[in-house]
Amino acid sequence: MSKVTVVGAGNVGATCANVLAHKDIVKEVVLLDLKGDFARGKALDTWQQASIDHYSTYVKGTDDYKDTAGSDIVVITAGIPRKPGMSRDDLISTNAKIVSSVTKSIMEHSENPIIIVVSNPLDVMTYAAHKASGLPDTRVFGMAGILDTARYRAFLATELEVSPKDIQAVLMGGHGDTMVPLPRYTTVAGIPVEEMIDGDKLDAIVERTKKGGGELVKLMGTSAWYAPGAAAAQMVEAIVKDENRIFPCCAKLNGEYGLDDMFLGVPVKLGKNGIEKVLTLQLNDDEKALLENSAQHVRDVMEVFNKMDV
Ligand code: NAI
Ligand code: 2OP
Repeated sequence: MSKVTVVGAGNVGATCANVLAHKDIVKEVVLLDLKGDFARGKALDTWQQASIDHYSTYVKGTDDYKDTAGSDIVVITAGIPRKPGMSRDDLISTNAKIVSSVTKSIMEHSENPIIIVVSNPLDVMTYAAHKASGLPDTRVFGMAGILDTARYRAFLATELEVSPKDIQAVLMGGHGDTMVPLPRYTTVAGIPVEEMIDGDKLDAIVERTKKGGGELVKLMGTSAWYAPGAAAAQMVEAIVKDENRIFPCCAKLNGEYGLDDMFLGVPVKLGKNGIEKVLTLQLNDDEKALLENSAQHVRDVMEVFNKMDV
């Protein structure tokens, strides 16, 4: 695989392109934005960093979809981010049109790409891109779970005074306040986290994780980009290197967890074909109820999208 397009050269898209270039695993990254000079500037800046940080990946900025022709993977970050007081769902009226039209333009120039959606509201924007692309379920999915588990792992690492590298965790559900971190599936170097931390502290970390995006919006006046951009780049890497990594991703569900015809965060195996497998965990009744609650929230936003004319 040699060509990755990142649509949207804003905070998340430019970070994703920059992190990808540093990984030095693809020949070219095309960074496309409506604001062509902005994309060209971000791309040129990243290319000028290549001799300093020792990578060969060429980064090209553009506003012309012809430059995306033959992309193997496309990361869609185009759209507006939220401002303080907004939920991710408030973005739907603007971002649904952007994500649908971007996807159609991509499909005019690339035959069978893998599409990774980042724009919010994530689960429904992934559904929108899947619908607009006509691609198989395994080739369209969304980035949220890697970011949300990274936040959870960071909070746990701070509390336990251990490296975040040693914390492994699964998190499911929609990318919103109803997301479902799973302490029962969280370990610190293989040790169940519940053996290392008081229940009250763990509950507080779970709650902080659910509102982790909002915490950053309050601090910065816009949403986060370093961890989101790096998370999307990590998904690209797993595909390019055919790593079969296990990540929580927003994937099309076809009966798994009793859920159908929707996109939701679940653990998947990610390799050269995109989603190689959706993993099915043996959730207990409480976890199932939390997941169902999150799925219902996503369905409600899907209803809004389905009534829109995009
Ligand atoms: P930003 O405002 O910095 O960048 C967005 C870029 O999209 C802008 O440069 C804009 O010109 C471009 N754009 C808008 N419409 C376009 C179109 N039709 N074609 C091409 N480019 C277009 O926003 P940021 O912070 O990069 O966030 C991007 C999106 O990602 C937002 O919707 C945000 O909510 C979402 N996000 C999702 C996360 C996740 O975990 N899934 C994490 C962080 C952000
Ligand atoms: C985040 O979680 C806003 O979805 C974005 O940071």
